[in-house]
Amino acid sequence: MGMLDGKVAVVTGAGRGLGRAHALFLAKAGAKVVVNDLGGAADGTGASATPAQEVVNEIKKAGGDAIANADSVAEWDSSKRIIDAAINKWGRLDIMVNNAGFLRDRMTFKMSEEEFDMVVKVHLKGTFACGRWACIYFYEQSKAGNALIKGRIISTVSHAGLGGNAGQANYAAAKGGIAALTMVWGREMAKYGVTANAIAPMARSRMTLGSSTTAGIMGEKPPADGSFDVWAPENISPLVVYLASDQAADITGHVFTVMGGKIQVFIPWTLGKSVDIGKRWTEQELHKRIRELGDLSMPPFPY
Ligand code: NAI
Repeated sequence: MGMLDGKVAVVTGAGRGLGRAHALFLAKAGAKVVVNDLGGAADGTGASATPAQEVVNEIKKAGGDAIANADSVAEWDSSKRIIDAAINKWGRLDIMVNNAGFLRDRMTFKMSEEEFDMVVKVHLKGTFACGRWACIYFYEQSKAGNALIKGRIISTVSHAGLGGNAGQANYAAAKGGIAALTMVWGREMAKYGVTANAIAPMARSRMTLGSSTTAGIMGEKPPADGSFDVWAPENISPLVVYLASDQAADITGHVFTVMGGKIQVFIPWTLGKSVDIGKRWTEQELHKRIRELGDLSMPPFPY
């Protein structure tokens, strides 16, 4: 018995990297999987149906069930086709894994409008659009009294989005937005039996090997001596499988970070110290007392 027997999952951007690993693990746990991938270049240009199909072939070879889909997550109508692919093929959807994306890193003072828009579109709008169609389905199933569907949404954020990495204004804004969306969905969908969580992974992939932020720290290949490969994308996927399972019904609205064998949970934006003077502040009083709130220099990066 697999943890996800009988369930149907969609994984976006599953033709490579982390998405591929998630799709393989979900299938191994018993889920039928829509392997979505637009199949383009590292900067998001171009398209190819091959990466998604190759992962489907891998899943089938291992005895699982999967179909390929090469639609873009970033458009309203095409994102709907991704969710419809699952429902049309297997008559249900249980698990929505939002993973697709690409980078166009640049300092803010050099970033073009297109670089900002494209990255926000694929990550934030793509996650919202796929999540929205999934939420509509989960909501309708709950209203119809279908207790078999316990919707699970697992989205992908990044330390860059939660800590504000320099050179990634577009990506960080999108990923921070996805962290917020995760909490919104956690609250909105709880009464329909749906959970929403996010992961902030750290693993070797085309994206991280091609990024000046991460290239060099991960090693291009697994260790030659066969020791534990801390940067393997497969290290991230068991958490995705677990969050997708019925056993994780009480876990929602959280962002987890996973790297190698280490898992941690982010503490969301929380309120720090307060000073209440019981009347309107003046600028002079602020100058005198604002540092009572603590160290107000640039916060450390959350690694
Ligand atoms: P990757 O480049 O190997 O995989 C991303 C996949 O998304 C590619 O196969 C690409 O074709 C696909 N894709 C791009 N645009 C698409 C679209 N419009 N519609 C459908 N598919 C599309 O990169 P990786 O590292 O596997 O990234 C997966 C996710 O994990 C991304 O959201 C990334 O931001 C996130 N992430 C990865 C980290 C890492 O350490 N690898 C760190 C933090 C976040």
